[in-house]
Amino acid sequence: MSTGAYFDSYQASLADPSGFWKEAAQDIDWVTPPTQILDDANPPFYRWFPDGELNVCFNAVDRHVHAGRGDQAAIHYDSPVTGTKLTITYAELLEQVKAVAGGLRGLGVEKGDRVVIYMPMVPEAVVAMLACARIGAVHSVVFGGFAPQELAARIEDAAPKVILSASCGVEPSRVVKYKPFLDEAIHRSEHKPDRCVILQREQERAELGERDLDWTDFISGEAARAGADPVTVKGTDPLYILYTSGTTGKPKGIYRDSAGYAVALRWSMGNLYDVQPGETMFTASDVGWVVGHSYIVYGPLLAGATTILYEGKPIGTPDAGAFWRVISEYDVVSCFTAPTAFRAIKKEDSQAEHLARYDLSGFRTLYLAGERLDPDTYEWASSKLGVPVIDNWWQTETGWPIACNPKGIEMLPIKPGSPTVAVPGYDVQVLDGEGSQVAAGVEGAICIKLPMPPGTLPTLWQDDERYVASYLSAYPGYYLTGDGGYIDEDGYIFVMGRTDDVLNVAGHRLSTGSIEAALAGHEAVAECAVIGVKDELKGQVPRALVVLKSGIDGEAQGERIRTELVARVRSEVGAVAALHQVDIVKGLPKTRSGKILRKTMREIADGGSPAVPATIEDVSVLEALGPVLRGV
Ligand code: COA
Ligand code: AMP
Repeated sequence: MSTGAYFDSYQASLADPSGFWKEAAQDIDWVTPPTQILDDANPPFYRWFPDGELNVCFNAVDRHVHAGRGDQAAIHYDSPVTGTKLTITYAELLEQVKAVAGGLRGLGVEKGDRVVIYMPMVPEAVVAMLACARIGAVHSVVFGGFAPQELAARIEDAAPKVILSASCGVEPSRVVKYKPFLDEAIHRSEHKPDRCVILQREQERAELGERDLDWTDFISGEAARAGADPVTVKGTDPLYILYTSGTTGKPKGIYRDSAGYAVALRWSMGNLYDVQPGETMFTASDVGWVVGHSYIVYGPLLAGATTILYEGKPIGTPDAGAFWRVISEYDVVSCFTAPTAFRAIKKEDSQAEHLARYDLSGFRTLYLAGERLDPDTYEWASSKLGVPVIDNWWQTETGWPIACNPKGIEMLPIKPGSPTVAVPGYDVQVLDGEGSQVAAGVEGAICIKLPMPPGTLPTLWQDDERYVASYLSAYPGYYLTGDGGYIDEDGYIFVMGRTDDVLNVAGHRLSTGSIEAALAGHEAVAECAVIGVKDELKGQVPRALVVLKSGIDGEAQGERIRTELVARVRSEVGAVAALHQVDIVKGLPKTRSGKILRKTMREIADGGSPAVPATIEDVSVLEALGPVLRGV
């Protein structure tokens, strides 16, 4: 790849990062335009646009109204699970955001204060995020599928002044009560918020306590009626914290700055996602994940595009044609979801017969991310839809793609199994154990040479030390992505999977540590290990191996204990963990220093024959586990 528009753009971004991003920064409205683009005086810490001042909400909402887009749809809320459709124009969005921002002020929330948002896919969730940005408060959205322990860990770390939540979420098969989870999480957390504002949904109203305030009263109160104007923040001030799973039970609070994120996302909308102002993007994810933050909320709105907030599933709400309906009904040009959603559609409607019912003539591109796009799913989606299917690889930490086919710059040939090439701004390299770059085609640790481009994490929330220890200490001068893979002779990146114990279940990133902590809390469990094994639909699912305390009869009580453990993970971590298989075993294979050999077990469970590490303590423990892991 040594000629062409992409090559030129990529080279320019690495040769002169400041010049490249200075130009991109012109698409953002600044209160004080930055005179310094990159502050690299304090490596390994880098800051983008340190002396720029802006308001991200103003850029996502107000300026479009000022520019004449007031009557354009900002959000189409489409909720097959509740039978609701609602369009919110930019002018209406501005009014709603102003009111919620005013209401938050009325509850004492000021610039820099944190607000946790624990809500389902309802417009109020998006309004709440923007309202925080408006007053310079830092939001931390927690995915609604997480249960009390995960929520509590986030409340504890973010120490929010206020929590915005709802009475329930609506899943196709059941109504999920949020309020008891919220109450339990606050009970478990040492930090207590001053107030919780609860959106009462008609499917299940919640009982309110002393700390709680009904959303309706909140937005009709004096403070909300007075509204709030955008507050100027520094480019490096935090816009949000988004917690993500590491290998331990303690989630990592990704610090997202304001200016870098706004500039990068705005740039990505046209250059990567091929969406222009006024066009419609449909990202089928959840506002609780990074994909939702970036491409349901901030990306499309920063671009003056229209976004879809879809409260439903790819199948069963009501059928496998749901995505095609949304695409045709709202003239969607780009759709973005996880490969697992397409595997689900393919399983249910392998001939894609539902497609015939809809007009998809305006649809240009399908984007898939969140997990490896397997070549079968790629072939199926591209042959049935007849549009380019673009794999893009990134993570909560980066906030926007590291590798992607940059369709808005130049559509490169697709190689199934690869998310194509490094995005401008990212110097992606594959390193071996010693930190040397490997040859083309050789697998190693995928790393990004510092500094990373704007929008990526500058650090972890109030924890510079953990930031360095987790990401920067393995290879000085590089950010460790945690993914392994290789780059071929054409510069195409192939991402083969995590090199650590992070799980990826249906595109949801989960920590082995959290699930293990839930299992270990059961009175019968002496020791346990969780591994992620291949799954045809979800990509990966967790599997638990549990050693019982001595004196407990596994034969007689195993069935009951297994059922209790599955229920425990569901109620502590959340249903999304989808733990269904628990095996009671005699022992777990470990190294001599006591580290459980999860990777070796995972490879055996996936049908492989990995080399046994020389450091294993007792090889007979692993041998005894073989049949259990292989399911024979
Ligand atoms: N609130 C509460 N519970 C939730 C939830 C939420 N926001 N989201 C999911 N859950 C629950 C589900 O109801 C389900 O519970 P169940 O075990 O009682 O059925 C469980 O968590 C697992 O949900 P999910 O991962 O959605 O699996 P599924 O089997 O219901 O559906 C797919 C499978 C493939 C259809 C589904 O995973 C999907 O649509 N994936 C899209 C991927 C995606 O959006 N990824 C985000 C990153 S891009
Ligand atoms: P998250 O932080 O939840 O977005 O998860 C990020 C992780 O998901 C990455 O580190 C990868 O392991 C995986 N991932 C995301 N997108 C892709 C992709 N396109 N190909 C392969 N793996 C991916």
